Amino acid sequence: MPTRPQNVSLRLARPGDAGVVAALSRDLIESGLGWSWSPERVARAMRDRNTVTLIASERGKLVAFGIMYFGDEHAHLSLLAVRPSHQRQGVGRRMLEWLLQSALTAGIASIHLELRAANHGARRFYRALGFVETAYIPGYYQGKEMALRMMRELRDPRARLPDWRLPSPKSS
Ligand SMILES: CC(C)(COP(=O)(O)OP(=O)(O)OC[C@H]1O[C@@H](n2cnc3c(N)ncnc32)[C@H](O)[C@@H]1OP(=O)(O)O)[C@@H](O)C(=O)NCCC(=O)NCCS
Repeated sequence: MPTRPQNVSLRLARPGDAGVVAALSRDLIESGLGWSWSPERVARAMRDRNTVTLIASERGKLVAFGIMYFGDEHAHLSLLAVRPSHQRQGVGRRMLEWLLQSALTAGIASIHLELRAANHGARRFYRALGFVETAYIPGYYQGKEMALRMMRELRDPRARLPDWRLPSPKSS
C-alpha cells in the first residue's frame, strides 16, 4: 500500500543518522561513482555550524534527507534523496521547500547544486521547484561523468537589504 505523505515528519539530523544518510547517498546518488559521502563525512557535515542536515522520517524510519551548506550570500544543496518507496509522494518537494524557506529567512540570494546530467528525473524535480539549468561540467564526477549545475534565485543579490542595527543593550 502506498505511504501517505502526512505520516512523514521533518526534523534536523542527529549524530546517529550519519550511517543511514551515508548509505542512502551511496545507493541513490553516488551509485557507480564510488562512495565519497562516507559516514564520517556526513557526521562532519552534521557538526558544521553552516550546514543543515534535514531528515524526513516515518514512524522512526529515515525515509529521506537533504544536506545544504549556507554561505553568506549563497547556499549549496550538496545532497537530497528520498527512498524509492517514498518517491513521487511530495516528500522531496516538502524538504526542498523547507530548505528554501530557511535560506530565504537567512537572507540567502541563491541556491546552487550539481547533479548527474543523466539524472533526468531529478532535473525535472528541480525544474518543478523553480531551479534553472546554468552549465554543464564535463568530467565533474571522477573525470568520467558530466554534471549539470542548477540554481534558484531567491532575491536579487543587488537589492538593498532592510536597515538593521545591533540593538543597544541599554534600550532593550
Ligand atoms: C529527485 C528526488 C529527490 C525527488 O523526490 P520526490 O519526493 O520523489 O519528488 P516529489 O514527489 O516531491 O516531486 C515533486 C515534483 O517534481 C517532479 N518530479 C519528481 N520526480 C520526478 C521524476 N522522476 N520524473 C519527472 N518529474 C519528477 C514532478 O513535477 C513532481 O510533482 P508530481 O509528482 O505532482 O508530478 C527523488 O526522486 C530521489 O531521491 N531520487 C534519487 C536521488 C537523487 O537523484 N537526488 C537528486 C540529486 S542529489
